[in-house]
Amino acid sequence: SRRVLIDTDTAGDDTQAILLAALADSIELEALTIVAGNVEFDYEVENAKYTLDLADAADDVPVYEGSRRPLVKEFEHVDHVHGDGGLGGELYPDTDIPSADGHAVDKIVETVRESPGEVSLACIGPLTNVALAVRREPKLNDLLDEVWVMGGAVNTIGNDTPSAEFNFWVDPDAAKIVMEELDVNLVDWGLTLRQGAFDADELEPFEEADTPYADFFTTITRHAREFSKERLGVDSTTQPDSLAVACLLEPELVTEAETYFVDVDEREGMTRGYSLVDELGITDGEPRTRVVEAIDEDRFKQMFSDMLLHGDP
Ligand code: BDR
Repeated sequence: SRRVLIDTDTAGDDTQAILLAALADSIELEALTIVAGNVEFDYEVENAKYTLDLADAADDVPVYEGSRRPLVKEFEHVDHVHGDGGLGGELYPDTDIPSADGHAVDKIVETVRESPGEVSLACIGPLTNVALAVRREPKLNDLLDEVWVMGGAVNTIGNDTPSAEFNFWVDPDAAKIVMEELDVNLVDWGLTLRQGAFDADELEPFEEADTPYADFFTTITRHAREFSKERLGVDSTTQPDSLAVACLLEPELVTEAETYFVDVDEREGMTRGYSLVDELGITDGEPRTRVVEAIDEDRFKQMFSDMLLHGDP
C-alpha cells in the first residue's frame, strides 16, 4: 500500500485528517512531523500523539518534532479559532508517548531518500518543515510520490486576513519555496467553503452517536463552530485538512482540477500570504500546481461519517 507522511500543526481538523489516514486500509501512515502553526508547539505534539492513540496507532506511527517557528516571520498562533490548546479548549492531552528521536526535517529527507518515489507527503500546516526539507534535499520533488498541501485561498477571501489563508499566512516564505520547488496538489480554503463542510443538521448524527471518534469530533469542534458563526455567519464545520488527506487516500474524489502557476506573497503588509494563481496564463510562471476545484462531496462525507461512526473510512 502507499506510504504517507503527514506534516501537521495538530489542532482542530488536523486531528480528523490524521484519523482518516491512520484508520484507512489503503495507505500506510509512516510518521507525523510537527510544525509550528495552529497553537503552541507543545500542545500540537500532544494533540498529535493523543489522536494517534485514539486510532490505536501510537505504537506504529512515530511523531517527529520539527520547526517551532516560521522561517523568517514571528510566530503567531490562532487558539482563538480552535480553542485554547487546539482541541476546543476542552481537552488538554498529556500522554506519556515519547517523541521519536531526530528532527522532522531529517525524517522527511531520510524517508524519501531511502524509498525514492514511494512516499507521499500530506502537508496540513504551515510549510516550514517542507521548505527546509527541500533546501536540504534539492531533489525532494523527484524523490516524492505525491505532495498534497492544504493552503492558500484561490481567488477567494482568506480566513486569516482578507487576502490570505492561515497556513500560507503563517509562513509565506516557506509556502513560496514549496510552490516553487514541488509539484503540489492544492486543496485551498475556498474549496473547503464550497464543499465538504458539515452544517448543523449534518452534524446531528455525530452529536448523537456514542462512539469515541464522534465524541472527540463533537467536543473539539464546538469552539470552532462558534467562531465560524461569528466570522462567517454560518453554523457549520469546515474540513480543510481532512479534505486534503481524503483526496490523497482516494484520488477519484477529485472531480475537477486544473494546473496553474501559483506564487505566494512573502512580503509583510496587507497581502502577506496571498496566493497568486495565474488562471489565465498571463505570467511566464510555469504551471505546476494542480488546484483541486471540485470533489465528490457525497463520497467525502460518507468517508468522514464512516470514520466517525464506525472507525472505518
Ligand atoms: C488551515 O488552518 C488551520 O487552522 C487548519 O487546520 C487548516 O490547516 C485552514 O486555513
